[in-house]
Amino acid sequence: MKCNEKPATCIKVKAIMSMFLPLLLSLNSALAQPEKEKTEPESFLAEKTGKPPTIPLNTVRRSGEDLCVNGPILGFDPGTSLYLAYEDLLKLPTHTLTTDLVWMGEKRKALVLPLEELRNALGLENVTDLVVVDCNDGYQAIFGAKVLKQNKPFLVLQIEGTPPGVWGLKEGAATLEYNRLEEGAETYAHYLNVETEKGLIDPDHKKPWGVTRLEFTRREVKFGELFKGNYTNLSEEASLGREIYLGSCYCCHAPMSGNMGGSISDRKLELLAAHAKYNQQYFLDWTRDPQGQMKGVKMSPHLYGEEQMNQLISFLKVVP
Ligand code: HEC
Repeated sequence: MKCNEKPATCIKVKAIMSMFLPLLLSLNSALAQPEKEKTEPESFLAEKTGKPPTIPLNTVRRSGEDLCVNGPILGFDPGTSLYLAYEDLLKLPTHTLTTDLVWMGEKRKALVLPLEELRNALGLENVTDLVVVDCNDGYQAIFGAKVLKQNKPFLVLQIEGTPPGVWGLKEGAATLEYNRLEEGAETYAHYLNVETEKGLIDPDHKKPWGVTRLEFTRREVKFGELFKGNYTNLSEEASLGREIYLGSCYCCHAPMSGNMGGSISDRKLELLAAHAKYNQQYFLDWTRDPQGQMKGVKMSPHLYGEEQMNQLISFLKVVP
């Protein structure tokens, strides 16, 4: 019985069983097993198919300002790249806030579209629990169910009333505003940020610039490889470490297998794990002070406390 697939039947079966509870106690606990094996309580999804999208979707790009998305959208193959027109994004429930935008120097007034509203407009609120964000430099950020709810990530639609492409980022960051030429036409990069940093270990990994595509998916689909084999039945410490890896290192250091992770670094998860296992000082030095190891390297310091560092290392020790 898969309780995570059919909650209605599951509740019915449980109600009937509880009537015979004294007799069926042992059977009940045997049946309850699959629930225990669920890797992530937050990935419990009520439905298998989405609702009809309420925003028009195009299968070809029509303008440089279009936003590229994909996911299990009703009526489309989940792998298909779909394009949302900028004017249509403006019609969704947006709001204005004054916030610190990385690369802008000072606080700016921005018109923002909450990622949850975008997910609702695609009809995906009950069928996806993860948004994977691809950037034009190979960086890949992730927004899981808890972050979507708690930190309220948003897509920036306007800064001081102007659309993307004319925001005039500070020197050195211009490539984050434009994507590489795509089929001969210039396309604008998008930008995400969060309304609150509450509870985030590395808030900077939730503020990606240069966004080229949003993938709406399920944790168990995207990260499946990291929950099988060696990765089943992790200790609590190691499974918290896996979350640190996914939230912070995964953006640039992908695992060797599975279609996931960023590509800024060619040092894969398995190599980081080898350093953590056999050359821990080197691993710690790199994590805390990458610039001290290689000047100008595209990695920022991760200043974890002892507890978090132990969690991360405890996870890396189970990496084959
Ligand atoms: C923004 C991208 C980025 C993020 C995020 C990132 N790294 Fe890196 N990391 C790099 C780059 C780039 C290098 C240099 C090697 C290369 O050029 O591929 C590197 C190198 C390393 C090395 C040295 C590897 C070797 O073989 O010498 C370690 C160890 C490492 N990173 C650990 C981590 C850990 C742990 C995290 C997460 C807490 C992390 N990195 C997050 C980009 C990143």
